[in-house]
Amino acid sequence: MDNIMNSRAYKAAREKAQALLEKLTLTEKIGQLSQFGNSIYSSDEKKYEDHFREGKVGSFLTLRGAEKTNRIQRDLMNMQRTPIPAIFADDVIHGYRTTFPTPIAQSCSWDPELTARCSAAAAKEAYAGGLKWTFGPMVDIARDPRWGRIMEGFGEDTYLCSRFAAAAVRGFQGDGDAPGKDHLIACMKHYAAYGACVGGRDYNTADVSPETLHEVYLPPFKAGIDAGAATVMSAFNDVNGVPATANRYLLTDVLRDRFGFKGFVVSDAGAVGELINHGFAEDPKDAVCKAFGAGVDMLMAGDMYNDNLPALLEEGKVTMEEIDRSVLSILTVKYLLGLFDEPFVDPDGEKVFFCDEHLALSREAGAQCAVLLENDGILPLKGVENIALTGPLTHPCGKAHLLGGWCGIADPERTVTIEEGLKAAIPDANIDVIPGATFVHMEPEEIAAIAARAARSDVIIAAVGEENGMAGEAGSKSDLELCGSQEELVLALCATGRPVVCLVSAGRPLVLSKFKGKVAALLNIWQPGTEAGNSVADLLTGKVNPSGHLTTSFPYTTGQVPIYYNHPSTGRPADGHWRFESKYMDCPIGPLYPFGYGRSYTTFEYSDISLSSDKIAPDGELKVRLTVTNTGEYDGAAVVQLYVRDLVASRVRPVKELKGFKKLFLTRGASSRVELSLPASGLAFVDSKLEWVVEPGRFKLWVAEDSADERCGFDFTVTNS
Ligand code: GLC
Repeated sequence: MDNIMNSRAYKAAREKAQALLEKLTLTEKIGQLSQFGNSIYSSDEKKYEDHFREGKVGSFLTLRGAEKTNRIQRDLMNMQRTPIPAIFADDVIHGYRTTFPTPIAQSCSWDPELTARCSAAAAKEAYAGGLKWTFGPMVDIARDPRWGRIMEGFGEDTYLCSRFAAAAVRGFQGDGDAPGKDHLIACMKHYAAYGACVGGRDYNTADVSPETLHEVYLPPFKAGIDAGAATVMSAFNDVNGVPATANRYLLTDVLRDRFGFKGFVVSDAGAVGELINHGFAEDPKDAVCKAFGAGVDMLMAGDMYNDNLPALLEEGKVTMEEIDRSVLSILTVKYLLGLFDEPFVDPDGEKVFFCDEHLALSREAGAQCAVLLENDGILPLKGVENIALTGPLTHPCGKAHLLGGWCGIADPERTVTIEEGLKAAIPDANIDVIPGATFVHMEPEEIAAIAARAARSDVIIAAVGEENGMAGEAGSKSDLELCGSQEELVLALCATGRPVVCLVSAGRPLVLSKFKGKVAALLNIWQPGTEAGNSVADLLTGKVNPSGHLTTSFPYTTGQVPIYYNHPSTGRPADGHWRFESKYMDCPIGPLYPFGYGRSYTTFEYSDISLSSDKIAPDGELKVRLTVTNTGEYDGAAVVQLYVRDLVASRVRPVKELKGFKKLFLTRGASSRVELSLPASGLAFVDSKLEWVVEPGRFKLWVAEDSADERCGFDFTVTNS
């Protein structure tokens, strides 16, 4: 696939890099493999000048702003014997200054192009801030919402995550043959199987079969690499006993030899030194030997490579050829970025921060990513005069909570609150904002007082969920119920008899089962970003019809996790007909809301469904055609989903797998003919030899509104030839 890593520009960059490489001293070469955080600036000034003069710095992370990065770059290049610009990097995951919905939210739009647009806007702002490299997209498959980093990825499904991974890479890097101005190089992280951490406990071991590793966790990385991702980040966790950051099988045999990756690998922060904690390395020198030997080109962050690679080279434990190969991959990317031609950025570029175009995109995306879970007809709000607004997410200091994780570079004060959004959208309504709700324990009388005041209004809007830091890195939770007394608050509001519209803002699926049948509407808004209040108001007033669909299962109880739709059948598939089947005795079978689920203010109907054939060859393709009609009262977008099941195979297969989807907007009463393509290659799975195979046999397929919808099922066969 054409991308920046196989373009003419890449080849030219590599030639220039090779020529420069031959002029460098060993110290300067190893300096290119060393990334530093802002610590080099905050503590030891001597270290700063020595490092620059000796050429020991190749990259920086978390240094931000045109003025600061230009100053550092100028100092560095003036002091080095051989001027080599540093590459500045940061976690631009869902925005730089303007913040867009979190990646888990974006995936619920089922619109990869939306993610491409958000990533491109984020790149433009980050470039203006002096950055050339983002540590994103995060493409870790997550099946356990106890893991707080589910917020940073694109959900539980490999097919959908792969589509979003490629879109994010294209957005960050651009579609040209080099990143060029206003773009960043991307970084596929965290390689690999970080989301498979046992118990959903961050940094924990990942113990997955080789087949599952290749079939579930690796394809999103391959999709990003095929889209041209220039870098990959090695993960903290061990994979089946070998730390990812010292895993030669993953970093070299698979990533480079099998996937054809030509960029460079950076370790996660401190992951090389942590090989000692893993019990995989004796000391820092041994850790460097194992990480560099496995395929980690650049160290994040500090002097471990500078301090240890020369001795390891001397001892013959690493070779100059290996060092040259890593340095060449990094210098090639620097030339590809045009860093040697333009090592500095124009400070005027920062006027793009929070520009109208980006704010409009944030507002649009926030509305597209929300998922309507329940609605008894109260939404969209029509002609409501008195509204009570409460909940910890409406608290004035709660602006940062609506941004989600990795927004250290954003400006929470620019966040549009739910109150502000509502008042702007329905200026004639009397909106009583009731303070006092918190994320922690509230006394019964405090809850009663809020409920009593709320009861005076016609409709109550309760915004509950998680604080900003509750998800994200190190944000693992053992309990997915709403924290504090939020659940009691919502139920008390319901007990007033007034209709309650419950907004849920969190970085992960939460347990919402107690609200079913109680709240009038349940809208999962995730963490929408800078324009949160306007996005929410657009949804509540019907200016935008919700079209989000879940990309992660919402459990009934925490005890159900890990929970995901594409699970094997087992010999005792649960349907509740007897005791002896694979289920929990103390909660319903399956999730509260399944993967793919999402409601609308309108309804859609599928008709005239046909398959191009009921049999295809192993190299064939099936076309599924249907008519989708908007049969309701509102314009809206439908997400047609295509699921398949391989009924009999040489390895047990999931009861269902997403193999296609299409989002289409239909005005009320309109119909559209939709065609979904299902190549037989899409039915491949990883066999015991770790090869992708398509096995002949019987299959089922469904066109569906979510993974539990089996109203439109068809049988087809893959023939032997
Ligand atoms: C963190 C994260 C990683 C991030 C890096 C740099 O520990 O694991 O996702 O890119 O450090 O901030």
